[in-house]
Amino acid sequence: MAKVLIIGAGGVGRVVAHKCAQVPEVFEEIMLASRTKSKCDAIAKSITNRTIQTAQVDAENVPQLVALIQSFKPDMVINVALPYQDLYIMDACLETGVHYLDTANYEPKDEAKFEYSWQWAYQDKFKAKGLTAILGCGFDPGQSQIYTAYLAKHYFDEIHYLDIVDCNGGDHGKAFATNFNPEINIREITQNGKYWKNGAWVETKPHEIMEKLTYPNIGVRDSYLMYHEELESLVKNFPTLKQARFWMTFGQEYLTHLRVIQNIGMASITPILYKGVEIVPLQFLKETLPNPDTLGDNYTGETSIGCRIKGIKNGKEKTAYIWNNCSHQAAFNETGAQGVSYTTGVPAMVGALMFLTGKWSGAGVFNVEEFNPDPFMEAIGPYGLPWEVKEDIDLEFQY
Ligand SMILES: NC(=O)c1ccc[n+]([C@@H]2O[C@H](COP(=O)([O-])OP(=O)(O)OC[C@H]3O[C@@H](n4cnc5c(N)ncnc54)[C@H](OP(=O)(O)O)[C@@H]3O)[C@@H](O)[C@H]2O)c1
Repeated sequence: MAKVLIIGAGGVGRVVAHKCAQVPEVFEEIMLASRTKSKCDAIAKSITNRTIQTAQVDAENVPQLVALIQSFKPDMVINVALPYQDLYIMDACLETGVHYLDTANYEPKDEAKFEYSWQWAYQDKFKAKGLTAILGCGFDPGQSQIYTAYLAKHYFDEIHYLDIVDCNGGDHGKAFATNFNPEINIREITQNGKYWKNGAWVETKPHEIMEKLTYPNIGVRDSYLMYHEELESLVKNFPTLKQARFWMTFGQEYLTHLRVIQNIGMASITPILYKGVEIVPLQFLKETLPNPDTLGDNYTGETSIGCRIKGIKNGKEKTAYIWNNCSHQAAFNETGAQGVSYTTGVPAMVGALMFLTGKWSGAGVFNVEEFNPDPFMEAIGPYGLPWEVKEDIDLEFQY
C-alpha cells in the first residue's frame, strides 16, 4: 500500500492517474498536481471508481514542491510534467526523502538538447540518501529498453544490432498536430539524427536516412532515423552492441508542415520581441496547434512500437522482433487519452508498481534496462500493453 504524487496533468498524467486508480491494492492514495489545478480537477472527475486528490504546484519552484511533498507524504513522485522540470523535482525528492520516476530525460529550456549527463550526475546523492530514481519509464524511452533487456536475457547470448522502430499508424484527422507536447516534440524531431556504430556516434542531418519498414497490422511506412535518448544508456548497458538506431514514422504531409514551420522560423527557441514583449516562437506556435489532449476523440488506427534485434545464440546468428500495437480508440475509451499518451502512461504506472511492490529496488539513479525485465514484462500485458515476439525473421535491414 503506497501513496503516489503524480506531477503534470497533460495527456500522460491523465493516463497515469487513471491507471494508478485501477490498482488500489498498490496505489492506496493518489494526488495529481500540476501548474493548472483545473486540469487536475477535470482528470480527477473523469476517474469514477476512486477519489484522487489534486493540487496546484509550480514544478520549477523547489520550496513549493517540498511543501507539497511534505504535506502529502508520498512514497514516490511520478514526474510526467515536462523534461525542463526533472532536476527541480529530483532536488525536491532528495530534500524530502522520496523516490522518483519520470518518462523523459532533462532538457534545458534554452538549448534543444537532451542527454542523461545531468540526471546521472545525481547518482551519488540518491545513493547516499538510500533513494531510488527511475529514469525514462514511458514507452520509448522505457518499454523499448525493457524489451531490449528481455530479449537479451532470454533469446540471445549477445546482442549486436538493435533497431527501435516507432510507428504511429493512427489518423487524428487534423492537418498538423503532435501527439505529445508540441514544444518538446518539435524540438526532438528537428534535431540532427545520431546512431551508434562500432563504438562511436555517427551524426546525420534531420530525416536524412529513411527506410520503408513494415509494421504489424499497419503495413509499410516511411521510417526516419532519429536520435533518441534511450540509445545513450542502452549502448552503455549493453556493450556488445555494434550498432543501435532509432526509427520513427512520419507522413509526407507532416514533414512538409514541419519544413514550413522551420523555414519561417516558428521552430526557433531563440526569444524575439513582439510588440515589446519577448516571446519564444516555438512556445507561441504551441499555443496555436491542437492540444494533444484533444486528439483522442476521433483518433483511429494504432501505434506499433518495438525492437528488432540481431545477435548470436549458441554460436549462431539469430534475429528477434518484439512489439506492442496499441489502438488509439481503445486507449481513449478507457482513459480519455489517445494511444501515444497511453503507451507512455501505462509503463510509468507499471514501473512505479514494480518499485512499490519490491520487484525493482536499489539506491541510486537507474535506467530501466538495469532492472530485472521479467516481472515488468509479466505485468505490462494485463495492464494494457500486450506484446508479441517473432524469432528468426527478416528484420528488413541490411547490416
Ligand atoms: N517516454 C515516452 O515514451 C514519452 C512519450 C511521450 C511523452 N513523454 C513525456 O511525458 C511528459 C508529459 O507529456 P504530455 O504529452 O502529457 O505533455 P503535456 O500534455 O504538455 O502535459 C504536461 C503537463 O505538465 C504541466 N507543467 C508544465 N510545466 C509545469 C510546471 N512548471 N509546473 C507544474 N506543471 C507543469 C503542464 O501544465 P499546464 O497544463 O498548466 O500547461 C501540463 O499539464 C513529457 O515530459 C514528455 O516528454 C514521454
